[in-house]
Amino acid sequence: MSFAPRVFSGIQPSGDLHLGNYLGAIRRFVPLQETHDCVYCVVDMHAITVWQNPEDLARSTLELTAAYLAAGLDPKRAIIFNQSQVVEHAELAWIFNCIARMGWMQRMTQWKEKSGKNAEAASLGLFAYPSLMAADILLYKATHVPVGEDQKQHLELTRDVAQKFNNDFSEWIAKKGYGENFFPITEPMISGPAMRVMSLKDGTKKMSKSDPADTSRILLTDDADTIAKKIRRATTDPEPLPSEPKGLAGRAEAANLVEIYAALAGISVEDTLKAFGGKGFGVFKPALAEVAVAEIAPLAERMRRYLDAPDEIRAILADGAARARVIAQKTMREVRDIVGFVG
Ligand code: AMP
Ligand code: TRP
Repeated sequence: MSFAPRVFSGIQPSGDLHLGNYLGAIRRFVPLQETHDCVYCVVDMHAITVWQNPEDLARSTLELTAAYLAAGLDPKRAIIFNQSQVVEHAELAWIFNCIARMGWMQRMTQWKEKSGKNAEAASLGLFAYPSLMAADILLYKATHVPVGEDQKQHLELTRDVAQKFNNDFSEWIAKKGYGENFFPITEPMISGPAMRVMSLKDGTKKMSKSDPADTSRILLTDDADTIAKKIRRATTDPEPLPSEPKGLAGRAEAANLVEIYAALAGISVEDTLKAFGGKGFGVFKPALAEVAVAEIAPLAERMRRYLDAPDEIRAILADGAARARVIAQKTMREVRDIVGFVG
């Protein structure tokens, strides 16, 4: 059985949005609206797998929605909503908790990183996080998921969950007339430059909300001066840029800045190096700051304008949730029937 193409992606409303979130995710959501049926979620239930101050969570939910809108997501075309308004996410996640195995979760690098040395003290929700993510995606029978490189492993687990559900219940799926496979085997969409934006201070660490150094990341709310300053102070080496990509081997910081430039300027890494090969960072950094400011400053301004009208943002989320619920409730009626829940 083939599934109608549908895109789903989500971002957690926790902490400030940075250039990695923008290039790895948000910006790529926009053109997909032209070609696919799209569902974009603010995953507030994922955010509380680690402690969130309630006021901050509410504010970040509105901010992330404002960023979606400012980047060009259109609530008339795409479904835009926050996860907690559609309770079916929690319900399907529970069923997936009974499908997925402890060993699958234990292997997740994000779990290992976030639970750290004290896994005993981590929340049960943090451990089961990928199961909720699988529920997000499969509730809508999404076939394509645009995310940054760091989410690849979670998407593989989503495929494993779909496959195991399809296998475990194959007899009932067929008997009840749902065809051969109930859930699609979702394809990740991870390609192009800057799928893994690195810290400006250390080219071996990804740019992340949780890095204690503010100078390691460019925020979507940074003003032009701050963006330029962070780029000026980014760690680099003393060599000029190479003329070809192979010359970036072993130069993680230089490679990162070149990838960011290419992504922002909408050109390839090869063409970036054709333009800047042989030039030093004294020339390249101001050029990078210019393309970064040109993209981010107007985005931040549009975000601020949306945030001046929080009730409109809430109305957009409520409308999106109502549309999401229609799809989610149909899936759950069928899942309950397949699993054998009476009612
Ligand atoms: P999160 O903030 O962890 O919910 O991530 C939201 C989205 O941003 C996901 O699709 C991530 O893959 C993406 N993302 C986060 N950090 C980076 C990064 N440093 N480079 C590229 N994509 C990223
Ligand atoms: N785990 C993702 C992240 O941290 C966020 C997320 C939750 C997500 N549910 C999703 C991404 C479904 C894509 C699809 O970035």
